[in-house]
Amino acid sequence: MTGLQPTAGIHLGNYLGAIRSWVALQEKAESFFFLADLHALTVPQNPEQLNHKTLDCIAMLIACGIDPKKSHIFVQSQVAGHADLAWILGCMTPIGQLERMTQFKDKSARRGDDFIGVGLLYYPVLMAADILIYGANLVPVGDDQRQHVELARDLAVRFNGIHGNTFPVPEAFFPPNCARVMSLQNPTAKMSKSDPSQSGTIFLSDSEDVIRKKICSAMTDSGSEIRALDNKPGICNLLQILSGIVGKDVSELEKIHGGLQYGKFKEVVAEATVDAIGPICKKYFLLKDQKDFLLSIANEGRLAAQSRATEMVSKVKAKVGLL
Ligand code: ADP
Ligand code: TRP
Repeated sequence: MTGLQPTAGIHLGNYLGAIRSWVALQEKAESFFFLADLHALTVPQNPEQLNHKTLDCIAMLIACGIDPKKSHIFVQSQVAGHADLAWILGCMTPIGQLERMTQFKDKSARRGDDFIGVGLLYYPVLMAADILIYGANLVPVGDDQRQHVELARDLAVRFNGIHGNTFPVPEAFFPPNCARVMSLQNPTAKMSKSDPSQSGTIFLSDSEDVIRKKICSAMTDSGSEIRALDNKPGICNLLQILSGIVGKDVSELEKIHGGLQYGKFKEVVAEATVDAIGPICKKYFLLKDQKDFLLSIANEGRLAAQSRATEMVSKVKAKVGLL
């Protein structure tokens, strides 16, 4: 089971770092994929846009290859129980562990003097509830979610220790490469939906021309070698992206493209990206306005998720002594 925040369009980092492995994993196990709209509320959202983006993300997940006949796709806020379980787990979570979370520190620092809600601190507890409520064994995520999955594991162990075996202890699953795709404009920061510079992020809905433009104007480094060196974060990132797309090791790509100028190499990466994303983008534009179809998928997913969630929450409530 895993989730994605419907806060903006889905980008290449989400795809290479997460969604692509979800598509493969759905062939191996019963899978739950959900839109984490309650997590999205941890920072201010425009209500009408959140609504649209949630449906849009369902369309994009399907376009990427998540098959609603094989997997359950649902919306977090439509399943009762996540917030209940989060409360119970939160009462067992040391506040210091939440204050030390890297993402909390980053996100709250980025808000500067703006309002920071308790939800931002509590976010990882809700995420632990999302995972444990389905008794999930495997949680495929990008590298930035490592600490959060670790908390879910800690809470499962703690709860089981106090109340007897209840939750399987979930494992995180990271893709072998591309667990962290970096911004094209600032290759020391991860590619993100919330990056103020949209030119650093490739959205799967970007047109071919926009993709080419973004990659060809990616920040590169001094020198002219196509090598994945520590002092070349820009070239490293482009090599990682190409590696994720074509499925070849970075070292092999260094040998193949080592003789190219930066500009030519960027063209290679741009064409590979366009080839990979083009079919997804076309499918997304066919699906995105089929509102009834998308709602029916979410409803089927909700029914399957709700029966699991109800069962687990009832068990947990009884174990902690709630009447
Ligand atoms: P964002 O961080 O852009 O808001 P989400 O938080 O919704 O995206 O992340 C959805 C999934 O995509 C998560 O599993 C997350 O780890 C993964 N992910 C997000 N950004 C990247 C990235 N730059 N590289 C690799 N994986 C990423
Ligand atoms: N926090 C995750 C992210 O931003 C989204 C998420 C919420 C999630 N709940 C989850 C991922 C449970 C995996 C499992 O990417």
